[in-house]
Amino acid sequence: MTAATPDLGQQVAVVTGGTGGMGQVIAAGLAQAGAHVIVIARDPARADALRTLIGASAASRLEVIAADLSRRADVVAATQLIVNRHQQIHILVNNAGAHFPGHRVSVDGVEMHVALDYLAAYGLMTRLDTPLRRGRARIVNVASDTLNDTRQVTIAGRPRPADLDLTEADSLADVNPATGFVPFQAYARAKLMTVTAGYALARTLAADGVTVNALHPGIVATGIIDDLVPAPLRPFRTLIRRSLLTPAQGAATALRLATDPSLAGVTGRYFNRDLETTTPAVSHDPGTQRRLCELSEHHFAGPRR
Ligand SMILES: NC(=O)c1ccc[n+]([C@@H]2O[C@H](COP(=O)([O-])OP(=O)(O)OC[C@H]3O[C@@H](n4cnc5c(N)ncnc54)[C@H](OP(=O)(O)O)[C@@H]3O)[C@@H](O)[C@H]2O)c1
Repeated sequence: MTAATPDLGQQVAVVTGGTGGMGQVIAAGLAQAGAHVIVIARDPARADALRTLIGASAASRLEVIAADLSRRADVVAATQLIVNRHQQIHILVNNAGAHFPGHRVSVDGVEMHVALDYLAAYGLMTRLDTPLRRGRARIVNVASDTLNDTRQVTIAGRPRPADLDLTEADSLADVNPATGFVPFQAYARAKLMTVTAGYALARTLAADGVTVNALHPGIVATGIIDDLVPAPLRPFRTLIRRSLLTPAQGAATALRLATDPSLAGVTGRYFNRDLETTTPAVSHDPGTQRRLCELSEHHFAGPRR
């Protein structure tokens, strides 16, 4: 955190993916600034490294909740636990994410990028509605600029933005199907879904002072990078990692959006690191936003009986 970071004493923050590269730095930064930090982690034992990073005194403000965020039941249970324990939430950082190199389906029948990189964030933003509104929270969604360009190697040519067409979708199980599956595009589409739903929720939450913004952190040397490096470049992985941002540099944008006083009230925006920028037109389309939120609500309503 920077010298300008406000005192976050009395604030409650929820961070997903707090056991990973950037998430650790985000969770530690918020705790060291005085916040009570709830980390949702699929393997709570991995939070031990986070405790060490935070330091003994701030670690007493760390609360770890176990959940596999690709599972609907776990998202529902974790959010219910938080609602039962906390009246207000002031910061929510949806940071957990992964890139899956092949087509995989979650226990709920949804493609894994949709389940983890989108639905976990949607579930937290909506299932924590009451404490988020009470805390006039800042919601920060860690997306990826792959949504603006799905090319893995960008030496020449024009950007190819991610697409999202829900006109034929009866449920989110229809998104990122096995036929024609391209992992990088599927990851980018899930991030585009997070930004798209975020724009819609930014509008509905604005009346209660809740803000929703999304970001690309830069290309950062974390666990996810090993999956994202294209096969021909894998022999140069160590060299590539050295040229990337550190997790602390990558985490800076999320921490800024979560805490910078100059960004109070700023909502419905997308930042590529420090630069506020645009996302594909479909993410601003009211029909797509509405259908996405409907399908997401159906997902959390559970299987039809
Ligand atoms: N690194 C980059 O260049 C880059 C660029 C653009 C966007 N991003 C985004 O930045 C965010 C943070 O990623 P990172 O780069 O810090 O990667 P990372 O080190 O791989 O961290 C990912 C985090 O997500 C957690 N996670 C994965 N699957 C989960 C599940 N099923 N349930 C709960 N938690 C789960 C991981 O938990 P475990 O510790 O248990 O594995 C880990 O804490 C992601 O959303 C990623 O898409 C990264």
